[in-house]
Amino acid sequence: MRIGIIGSGNIGGTLTRRLSALGHDVTVANTRGPDSLADLASETGATPATPEEAVGGAELVVIAVPLRAVPELPDLDGKLVVDANNYYPGRDGRIEAIEGGAASSRWVADQLPGARVVKAFNTIQWSHLLEHGRPAGEAGRIALPVAADDAAAKQVVMELVEALGFDAVDAGGLDDSRRQEPGTEVYGADLDADRTRTALTSA
Ligand SMILES: NC(=O)c1ccc[n+]([C@@H]2O[C@H](COP(=O)([O-])OP(=O)(O)OC[C@H]3O[C@@H](n4cnc5c(N)ncnc54)[C@H](OP(=O)(O)O)[C@@H]3O)[C@@H](O)[C@H]2O)c1
Repeated sequence: MRIGIIGSGNIGGTLTRRLSALGHDVTVANTRGPDSLADLASETGATPATPEEAVGGAELVVIAVPLRAVPELPDLDGKLVVDANNYYPGRDGRIEAIEGGAASSRWVADQLPGARVVKAFNTIQWSHLLEHGRPAGEAGRIALPVAADDAAAKQVVMELVEALGFDAVDAGGLDDSRRQEPGTEVYGADLDADRTRTALTSA
């Protein structure tokens, strides 16, 4: 797949490494510009770019930025967008819609009209995403919840999660993604698929 990644930090850099290694055609962007991405590009074979360029030809766009930066992102109308982000008011400032009870991914979708938003990768620490992928069927394989309103988009992302070495668990629609946010039982817990399903159901 042609994959654009916006954000080259802990999560964006990790997904650039892992998705490039799987053979995907990855373009990566940040705020500081393509020159700042030279080392990551030469390590992974990914193409350094501006955010607009990363979005342009992409079949799937990962956004891995501080949540407060989402309204500054390029037009993502019609794109499959993977929202790996979390809301931390201390970092992001107070976002009233989320404080009022909206899932942070619902707020993200509201900022990106026409995007098919899928919540994934927000629950796992970046170093575990980098190193703890395992073959399907291996005991203790970590599960990652995937939530979206668009079933086809969710299926694409669930397959990507599996290819990266994690069990993909259907976590329902975008509003259900509150059950995988910071402070929930699945967050940062590296649970297996059964325990993830139980934790999501009881959340
Ligand atoms: N750290 C984790 O283990 C982890 C796990 C799961 C989810 N998350 C979530 O994933 C998101 C990213 O976390 P992180 O730890 O990867 O953050 P990070 O290391 O601080 O990286 C953030 C990246 O976003 C880029 N960025 C910021 N504003 C931007 C904009 N307007 N346009 C384009 N790029 C922009 C930054 O660009 P520059 O490099 O130029 O500054 C940087 O590359 C957060 O929402 C976080 O809560 C983090």
